[in-house]
Amino acid sequence: MSNGFTLIELLVALALAAILATAVYPGFSAWLLDSRRDAMVTAALHAMHAARQFAAVRAVWPAHLPMSVRISAHDWVEGGITPSDAVQIARAFKAAGADLIDCSSGQVSVHQKPTYGRMYQTPFADRIRNEVGIATIAVGAIYEADHVNSIIAAGRADLCAVARPHLANPAWTLTEAAKIGFTAIDWPRQYRTAKPQMEANFQRERAAALAAVTPGSAQ
Ligand SMILES: Cc1cc2nc3c(=O)[nH]c(=O)nc-3n(C[C@H](O)[C@H](O)[C@H](O)COP(=O)(O)O)c2cc1C
Repeated sequence: MSNGFTLIELLVALALAAILATAVYPGFSAWLLDSRRDAMVTAALHAMHAARQFAAVRAVWPAHLPMSVRISAHDWVEGGITPSDAVQIARAFKAAGADLIDCSSGQVSVHQKPTYGRMYQTPFADRIRNEVGIATIAVGAIYEADHVNSIIAAGRADLCAVARPHLANPAWTLTEAAKIGFTAIDWPRQYRTAKPQMEANFQRERAAALAAVTPGSAQ
């Protein structure tokens, strides 16, 4: 199924991107080993290295296509990247030509103490979007279409990324669209007979929920 857009993302945040993170955040590997942040890690150095790394990839990616960068906006560990550092990092990537900042967090230290919860990383996307003036992607524990719509409508991010809900339910996007009554979405041809049934079932659920809170509407 095509989503109708093409985007490349540079990952500088999480453990899976540790090699690049080492280049972007001087002292990263020492910090991983020693659970401490190298004294040389400053916002200014982030800016310099990040811009260099980004420019190398941007140079080989078509200019008319967007490029985003995933950052760790909060390392959740003493001496790690803070949300204020993340604002500086985002500024550096913006200056280097990034189109979007994808705001993740953590997973660089076993000593991290994240505060998990619904949409828990969205405040980072919100702050960077509104302080730096660059488009952002919110990610992390966004698991209902209503979460996505509220984030976008409130101007907290420009896109939402959804990972684990798609592992639990590969048809998550189709299911959530039906749940909120959005029917103008293509299903894979082999599954199409299931679409009207799911939409009708959710429509009945919405009508019942509405009737339950609307005085005098019970039939
Ligand atoms: C199977 C899997 C692979 C992932 N691989 C990466 C990765 O390579 N780089 C990265 O930055 N995040 C990776 N993530 C993290 C997700 O992109 C996402 O930030 C995280 O799962 C939180 O979002 P969620 O609550 O929607 O799952 C991965 C997640 C899953 C479940």
